[in-house]
Amino acid sequence: MIVFNNVTKRYGSNVGLIDASVHINRGDFVFLVGPSGAGKTTFIRLILKEIDPDKGKILLAGKDITRLGRREIPEIRQKIGMVFQDFRLLEKKTVYENVAFAMEVVGKSKREIRERVPYVLELVDIKDKAKRYPDELSAGEQQRVGIARALVNKPRVLICDEPTGNLDPITAMDIMELLEKINIRGTTVLMVTHAKDIVDKMNKRVVAIDKGRIVRDEEGSYGFKKQNQELYIPGQINAVSSGQNLSVDDRKTMFEVPPANILRDIDAGYDGNVDSMVSAYLDGGEDVYE
Ligand SMILES: Nc1ncnc2c1ncn2[C@@H]1O[C@H](COP(=O)(O)OP(=O)(O)OP(=O)(O)O)[C@@H](O)[C@H]1O
Ligand SMILES: [Mg+2]
Repeated sequence: MIVFNNVTKRYGSNVGLIDASVHINRGDFVFLVGPSGAGKTTFIRLILKEIDPDKGKILLAGKDITRLGRREIPEIRQKIGMVFQDFRLLEKKTVYENVAFAMEVVGKSKREIRERVPYVLELVDIKDKAKRYPDELSAGEQQRVGIARALVNKPRVLICDEPTGNLDPITAMDIMELLEKINIRGTTVLMVTHAKDIVDKMNKRVVAIDKGRIVRDEEGSYGFKKQNQELYIPGQINAVSSGQNLSVDDRKTMFEVPPANILRDIDAGYDGNVDSMVSAYLDGGEDVYE
């Protein structure tokens, strides 16, 4: 689904990513974690082809996107649904219109929109608020709309950038359950987060980046030092999870990672040959979302 092959991206003398190889399969649920400035946004911007790597290859759904021309960019972006920490809904449009608009801008017909939007609103359990405006909704409800909008064009992968960062812990877990449900139905999910509590509870694959390098890639927990757990104060989970209110030393400890550079080959079939990956992914191209 998404393959990074020895990808390096520098911004002048700043390091974005160094020699990053990751390989996310169709249907995976992956947390992308790491301290501020580690390279998480760089990773996402590379997938969206907002920036290009200096070195290495990036495959998205079987296509080497580093070789695509500008004209092909909209097509690859349609394979990706984005969910943001601050929801980014259009305030003057209703819930229904916000989701429908995402289909209008890519030229879907009125009929397709009429059929698809209610289905997606139902999926994220917000159908009863279809006629409401964003400012009439709770934060959790707004995020459900954000997720509906991201899903409405049937993306292959849902990229969520701190989707629970503005939510209380209980609402955050509701949203995580929704993301898990969407994942089980066949959409690959890549989620950037600082929320250790969530990562630990979900028990999914965790890719950790530090100073531009992939320092850990394995299933399970957040993976940073145990003693950090005492930083988790009931009722303040959000502030701590998002790394706010922490001293520089706390943050360093929080994000210290095991030295081993473990890059597992999740897909046993991957032999390191990019071309064979391309054909494998091209073969498995149909939409399983519905
Ligand atoms: N446009 C840019 N120009 C110069 N340097 C940049 C640019 N974008 C990112 N960087 C640098 O690249 C590094 C990685 O940044 P990136 O935004 O990917 O980090 P991040 O992991 O998303 O951090 P955060 O958790 O704070 O969002 C940082 O050192 C940052 O200063
Ligand atoms: Mg970032």
